[in-house]
Amino acid sequence: MTEKLAIDGGTPVRTERLPLGRGLALLGDEERTAVLEVLESRSLFRYYGPHLLRKVDAFETRITQMMQVPHAVAVSSGTAALRAGLAALGVGCGDEVIVPSFTFIATVNAVVAAGAVPFFCEVDASLGADPSDVEAKVTPHTVAVMPVHLENQGCDMDALTKIAERKGIAVIEDACQAIGASYKGKALGTIGECGAFSLQLEKNITSGEGGALVTSDETLYVRAARYSDQGGQFVTSYGTARGDELDEPFAGENLRMTEIAGAIADEQLRKLPSIIEAFRANKRKILDAVGTVDGLEVRASHDPDGDGGSSITWFAPSRDIAQRFAAALRAEGVPSAQMYNGEPVYKTPAILAKRTATNKGGPWHCAEHPTDVEYRAGMCPRTEALVARSFVVGNGARFSPSDCEDVAAAVRKVAEHLL
Ligand SMILES: Cc1ncc(COP(=O)(O)O)c(C=O)c1O
Repeated sequence: MTEKLAIDGGTPVRTERLPLGRGLALLGDEERTAVLEVLESRSLFRYYGPHLLRKVDAFETRITQMMQVPHAVAVSSGTAALRAGLAALGVGCGDEVIVPSFTFIATVNAVVAAGAVPFFCEVDASLGADPSDVEAKVTPHTVAVMPVHLENQGCDMDALTKIAERKGIAVIEDACQAIGASYKGKALGTIGECGAFSLQLEKNITSGEGGALVTSDETLYVRAARYSDQGGQFVTSYGTARGDELDEPFAGENLRMTEIAGAIADEQLRKLPSIIEAFRANKRKILDAVGTVDGLEVRASHDPDGDGGSSITWFAPSRDIAQRFAAALRAEGVPSAQMYNGEPVYKTPAILAKRTATNKGGPWHCAEHPTDVEYRAGMCPRTEALVARSFVVGNGARFSPSDCEDVAAAVRKVAEHLL
């Protein structure tokens, strides 16, 4: 046997912290200048101010150009983007939305906040919504499916869009973790009816909090913009007569992005292509250097070229080994963990208990739209078995070739001991 593992008292592969290098690490003079410009303009609100610089408008324009999609609505978070998208699609009480059982809780919360019932589907070996199970979960009440492109890897969008078309349901992409990644040449988020991005601190690019919804459908765009702006306080009038052009008014909420966030987001967006390019190159280097390891399977991909490359997920033979693998890697100086503790999202206590803030009305307590949906541990057994065996290693846009070598060396070293 080779060198002792660091977790057992051996020498770690590295002691210096790995430079991750997403948007947060690349915040620099460009963002500082842009923020100061907004402060000096005293126009912090996107729709008016003494010297409005229209930074949020600029961010929206850039995102449409980069994603090759006609419309974007900048909002206050990725969850807000999902909320605006669901509202635009008219999703509400009495409706069902299919969501993957392995995702961040925000995916589910957005559906619940819309008043609709989340139905959980299995994920496939790519950790994306499994098309065959999506099809199996469609009922007469299903109105949409929300594929989640976890960690910059696209779901099986060809199959999912075909099923959605056949079943007459909408596709709203949760691309919150995938801004800048693609699937078969198309930007993730632009393939379904609409797609949501997040600019939260840990995402590819960040404005601290922030998000955007993109769509090719003009009606959805107008509805999402109105929804995110109190039903159309400014988007329908731009500060002149209120709501003149509003043909079918509806109540909305305030999900607007601030000019400060817009200024940062626009500068970060300029940096996105180089971040993704570096992620991709470094992921290839790490995977090549690790090579084939008996007992480790790499997360499957429906489009390796489109993968945004922000991390590498492997599947170990068991949960126990996956957990020990991640802990041993951390001791070697390589951050690793089980994403979402290797558990399906429906095990979240509030979801299992079907509890909202009020416990009145949709999705689970509506007299007019009763549902007998039940959530329980074990309901998506394939997902549970798969994600229990997973562990993820973060990649870095700023990794040097020797950083990539260190990550690969640590994976190989731990594998020699644990597999
Ligand atoms: C899969 C997924 N969906 C939605 C969200 C929500 O984004 P935000 O935190 O910007 O509201 C996140 C963010 O963490 C996410 O990871």
